Amino acid sequence: MHEITKLPEMRAWSRAERAKGRRIGVVPTMGSLHEGHLRLVDRARDRGDRVVLSLFVNPLQFGPQEDFARYPRNLARDRGLAAQREVDCLFAPDTAAMYAAEPLVRVSPGPLGETFEGAARPGHFAGVLTVVAKLFHIVEPDLAVFGRKDYQQALLVRQMVQDLDFPVEIDVAPTVRELDGLALSSRNAYLDPDQRRAALALSRALRAVEQAWRGGEANPAVLERRGLEVLKTPGVTPEYLAVVSETLQPVKQADARSVVVIAARVGPTRLIDNVVLGEGVANDVSVRGA
Ligand code: PAJ
Repeated sequence: MHEITKLPEMRAWSRAERAKGRRIGVVPTMGSLHEGHLRLVDRARDRGDRVVLSLFVNPLQFGPQEDFARYPRNLARDRGLAAQREVDCLFAPDTAAMYAAEPLVRVSPGPLGETFEGAARPGHFAGVLTVVAKLFHIVEPDLAVFGRKDYQQALLVRQMVQDLDFPVEIDVAPTVRELDGLALSSRNAYLDPDQRRAALALSRALRAVEQAWRGGEANPAVLERRGLEVLKTPGVTPEYLAVVSETLQPVKQADARSVVVIAARVGPTRLIDNVVLGEGVANDVSVRGA
């Protein structure tokens, strides 16, 4: 596995591979790798010839009160996991390499970036899209793989690529969960055992909405009430639970493409999750002890 920290070196590696006719897939991450990230690597490998895993905790996408300073970082462990999964190139720039100066120009997400996560975390998606745009320019990938776990992020990346004509194919992979339903997240490391149990309320609420919908209920307000009943448990503070269209717009009737999006605090930790009604939580990927 190549390990690169400098931007010109990354671009040179990518260009040399492309000159040999190889298709390059990139998996952008902030590290602290888990099976959710590693499944994205598998997909990139299935769809390309070379896999670049980027690992960069992007300060631009954290608000001033958020967890940038304490976000889990473990390069040695990540390096081992990436190598085991046969990543071809680990791109792990430091902050000074990515942002010699704080960028004055940022990619503006537009109205899709103002609801849900965008409303809760002002500036978050401008930070995400700016770093993803930079990564696309540095790596020049043919393909980039993102997780459905961050539904709004994947939607916005697709929109950016479409609106700004990036020559990159975007692939979105199903959410990876623990056997009990908890969606894998680097932030799960913040949860103590009681909070870990309480956090199951998110996936339970998604399942409850899904079941009610499968039972014939299509009114989004009724479905949302059902979900909130399940989400509201001791130790969990719901932020939002909404049944919306695939582009996160209000719907009159829920259908198979509708998405249930959830954000809640478990203790001080903010967690998000979602399900596409027609696909269902059970069709996400379950892994043991990840
Ligand atoms: P990070 O939270 O590290 O996630 C990296 C990628 O892994 C994202 O595409 C995310 O959706 C995906 N992912 C995380 N948990 C997952 C799970 N349980 N199942 C499937 N996929 C999962 O998202 C970011 O980093 C950053 O915003 C980034 C895109 C790297 C820009 O800084």
